[in-house]
Amino acid sequence: MSNTIDNLLHETRRFPPNSEFTAQAIAKPELYAEASANRLGFWADQARELVHWHKPFTRTLDWTNPPFAKWFDDGELNVAYNCLDRHVLAGNGNRVALHWEGEPGDSRSITYAELTAEVKRAANLLTSLGIRAGDRVAIYLPMIPEAVIAMLAVARIGAVHSVVFGGFSAESLRSRIDDADAKLVITADGGWRKGKVSPLKPAVDAALATGETNVGHVLVVKRGDNPVEWTEGRDLWWHEEIAQVDADHTAKAFDAEHPLFILYTSGTTGKPKGILHTSGGYLTQAAFTHKNVFDLHPETDVYWCTADVGWITGHSYLVYGPLANGATQVMYEGTPDAPHPGRWWEIIEKYKVSIFYTAPTAIRSFMKLGRQIPQGFDLSSLRLLGSVGEPINPEAWMWYREVIGGNTAPIVDTWWQTETGAIMISALPGITATKPGSAQVPLPGISIDVLDESGGHVGHGNGGLLVVSEPWPSMLRGIWGDPQRFQETYWDKFGDKYFAGDGARLDEDGEIWLLGRVDDVMNVSGHRLSTAEIESALVAHPLTAEAAVVGAADETTGQAVVAFVIIKESQRDAASRDDIAAILRAHVAEQIGAIARPRQVFVVNELPKTRSGKIMRRLLQDIAEGREIGDTTTLADASVMQIIQDKLN
Ligand code: WT7
Repeated sequence: MSNTIDNLLHETRRFPPNSEFTAQAIAKPELYAEASANRLGFWADQARELVHWHKPFTRTLDWTNPPFAKWFDDGELNVAYNCLDRHVLAGNGNRVALHWEGEPGDSRSITYAELTAEVKRAANLLTSLGIRAGDRVAIYLPMIPEAVIAMLAVARIGAVHSVVFGGFSAESLRSRIDDADAKLVITADGGWRKGKVSPLKPAVDAALATGETNVGHVLVVKRGDNPVEWTEGRDLWWHEEIAQVDADHTAKAFDAEHPLFILYTSGTTGKPKGILHTSGGYLTQAAFTHKNVFDLHPETDVYWCTADVGWITGHSYLVYGPLANGATQVMYEGTPDAPHPGRWWEIIEKYKVSIFYTAPTAIRSFMKLGRQIPQGFDLSSLRLLGSVGEPINPEAWMWYREVIGGNTAPIVDTWWQTETGAIMISALPGITATKPGSAQVPLPGISIDVLDESGGHVGHGNGGLLVVSEPWPSMLRGIWGDPQRFQETYWDKFGDKYFAGDGARLDEDGEIWLLGRVDDVMNVSGHRLSTAEIESALVAHPLTAEAAVVGAADETTGQAVVAFVIIKESQRDAASRDDIAAILRAHVAEQIGAIARPRQVFVVNELPKTRSGKIMRRLLQDIAEGREIGDTTTLADASVMQIIQDKLN
């Protein structure tokens, strides 16, 4: 990324909405005025308009016990009913909910009526396996329709899903099963990735191989047709079981604050946090943002979000938001470049995708391959583009606009987090004049501020820390099993304002530029990774005495994992430096998952530490990014940096 912060702040290009788009736009400028005149009234209106309530709510927000918010708490709803039955009852049962595309080219289009029927059966199946409201179900699936069906079936019976990204290791899966105390795991034999079947079941078997869990059954979807090991009594084939249960199922209402899901995300310490979301407020904001930010016209649009259901983007913008709004969408199983580098553009052409939502890291890797690849496909159906996961550099923004959006489709750069549950900062298409590289303005009903360390507002042209200064409907309700960590991580710094962990600047217009994490969290390809978690994986290896991990700027992935390790005295002759690096890179992938595999592992004799023993990652980052080394005066031994550099050269 060649732009410095100063350049960013002087970005002068503006792309005002065109009048045709504005005339048809879903979002109306009045939303801002309505929300600022009566914020809670605004959210109550959205909740009534976008969500079906089995029992209407009378209270909008209870914030008497911060940071524990309750939204619409005397209302009752069923989240799955909102995503399914009500569309069928409204006469839209024949509308396609999912155009599912398998990586090898097999495909399946599923209407709302069909999806509703499948979820009803799956709900009965879960009940027959003893799953009750409040129980936790771990879902470890590839991007196949059953992932959506499983999530909705769990929600339908009031159980709580914990989706674990299929790229995570057995170890990561096990720690999530344990932390949430899951009773059931739903998985598949395998799924297609990069031109071959990548097995999933072995990781589940390994995760459950030792020690006690409360997992009674493993439901296995047949997708890859690859051979699997079978534990009689525990393992069940999804297709066999689903054929035996009742087709009918009536959705029962649950409290608005009934838990909907837990999703684990990395924090500053080694242990991932189980972010808890509940029902009514989450669904309201997911639906509101999906409709207004993406300008959804459900009768005509074909929407495609490329995120995996294992991440929050998949939860809010592949499952709950679009399905609550009755959207027709594409779901794709595989990787962008399989079986050929134009695969995504081929899918857009095939389904005439009109709204496309992806991550900057994907855009940058397509940029590298050249514009002739997308230009080989008809992308003229696209009329709106979204970006999420990390700051989008202006070059990538312009390429996205010109090459993918035909110079006309507005781009919405959406800032949010696992914790916020739904989009918080974004342009609204048809209203906002867009600006390459800036996430721009808080959505109506969302209160954002940029503060200095002591909690004062920063002025235009200045940087600070991003906070959300008022509670919002889809906010996390806590960290599963750890209220104290919830309080400490997000609320201790600025009282009852939510501290997001991101640095931000306000430009001359007061619009927001995200500058990345201010804590020890890295953002690799839009995925959150903790330095501490990777360090503890590294020191768990018998070769390693000490390890320090930094996120170094990377042209494609935003940041990349770079590790510095000290090898144990006794192991120094065990292998060459190159072999050690290869062994440790593989070890991290095995312990956490391939996304955490370090780009580089440097073997060093020392690590730069302060007198109190804290590793100065900032200096290691200078090395990893090939910069001149910064201020070393607080090091216990200032010569360490020279020693490290000499060793590496
Ligand atoms: C972190 C949240 C929520 C979507 C997927 C990531 C970074 C997210 C943007 C954006 C700049 C962004 C932030 C945030 N981030 N979107 N549009 N511009 N930065 O969810 O794994 O919870 O990570 O991703 O640093 O804190 P997540």
